Amino acid sequence: MNEDGVRQINSLKKANEAFLGTNVYEDNDQKVVDNLAVTPSNQLTNGLLGWYSVCSSHKLKINQLNHISMYNEPLILYRDKDSKVRCIKDLCPHRGASFRGGEIDNGELVCPYHGARFSSKGECTNLDRITCQHIVDTNYNNYAKKIHLYQYPVQEKDGYIYIYYTGKAKTNLGDFDIETSLEKSLAENYGFNTSEYSYEEVCVDFKCDWARIIENHLDILHIFWVHGDTIPDKDVSRKVITSFNQSITRDNYHIESKYNHKDKSKGEFITIKFIPPGRILIFKGDPKTARYIQCLDHIPLAQNRARVIVRHYRKFLKNKFLTKLILFKNLQQRIFYKVFSEDYLILKTQTFNQQMGYIEKDNVKLLGEDKMVQYYWDWLQNALKKEKPWDLHKTNAHTNSVHQDMPMVYPPENPRLARDNDREITIKLIIRALVPLGIFLLII
Ligand code: FES
Ligand SMILES: [Fe+2]
Repeated sequence: MNEDGVRQINSLKKANEAFLGTNVYEDNDQKVVDNLAVTPSNQLTNGLLGWYSVCSSHKLKINQLNHISMYNEPLILYRDKDSKVRCIKDLCPHRGASFRGGEIDNGELVCPYHGARFSSKGECTNLDRITCQHIVDTNYNNYAKKIHLYQYPVQEKDGYIYIYYTGKAKTNLGDFDIETSLEKSLAENYGFNTSEYSYEEVCVDFKCDWARIIENHLDILHIFWVHGDTIPDKDVSRKVITSFNQSITRDNYHIESKYNHKDKSKGEFITIKFIPPGRILIFKGDPKTARYIQCLDHIPLAQNRARVIVRHYRKFLKNKFLTKLILFKNLQQRIFYKVFSEDYLILKTQTFNQQMGYIEKDNVKLLGEDKMVQYYWDWLQNALKKEKPWDLHKTNAHTNSVHQDMPMVYPPENPRLARDNDREITIKLIIRALVPLGIFLLII
């Protein structure tokens, strides 16, 4: 988001200050008063630059290039000779070609233009550097060993690949000053031991503002209205749309909102934890005992382009054979695609409204349940002002958008993945029906 984005968020904030300055929401049993003016929500120390989960480990295969971007900057992920994940700027230091169309040969990155090969071994004694081994032929050795790839620090944990994004890639990883430890972003830091769970995952790209998607995932009311017919939970539907008691706690690393049913016998509905810059954990019920947890990672690919990695962790149905037999993964994915399609129309048009300046003072009024959204805006506004991540790799109307368009995955706009999934379900169902029939025929 650029300066315009900051201005628009400011106007949104102003529009709601009158309403939220003293935010009072009541129910029969309880009156909750939260004076936002005296409870600043900006104690979060993480800004927009820092650790992002950008890819699932299983998606990054040996000898494969994985193209992503961050705040408009094209990057590449790949595994080197030791299977260590590297995140490099997509720019060959010979004549500035992209590595698109290049290859990984035995852990070495090969430029498609003149064949420069890059590896952290060989002439280079510092394994944190990725140095050119040769270009065209080995007579160029002297030249080659002086050119390095620009890269970002990477860590691989819990099946996620995290990069430390600063907007300024360096040739030597040792030169990065890492201000926040990755541990603060990990689920285990928030009472959630991923090893106790199985999960399904889906990765979806949106052509809309990155921040709007996070806002959507911090908003519980829309779940009832937009996804009520899709989510297989009788407590979530348009018919039972309801208001909750909400309590918010914060520390330097996250904001947590707990939603309790007003009918106390029903207990806790959901807990949402926002861990800046891009992670949200949603616990169904009490986090200590939750059998179902969503982990959503939001990646700001470029202006109006964002990627979301969603994992649904569960403590039930952990038997692999059984989950395969009942096509659990495919059925879950069918729900994911539907939910994303439902959100997508809203998010892209809401992005437009925001960019056009239609969401101005007096046009929007937040509800009590939107407090998380308000806190999020507070944090975002501060971080945008301080770090200006969208100004680090600015594009304009004349910029060739080739990097932005090629790597995107659009299940909502292009329902191909949803159709492929449905086809897979049909084929598997037919096979499941035919196998017993075949056995029966063999027996008789
Ligand atoms: S631009 Fe990469 S080898 Fe020439
Ligand atoms: Fe949604």
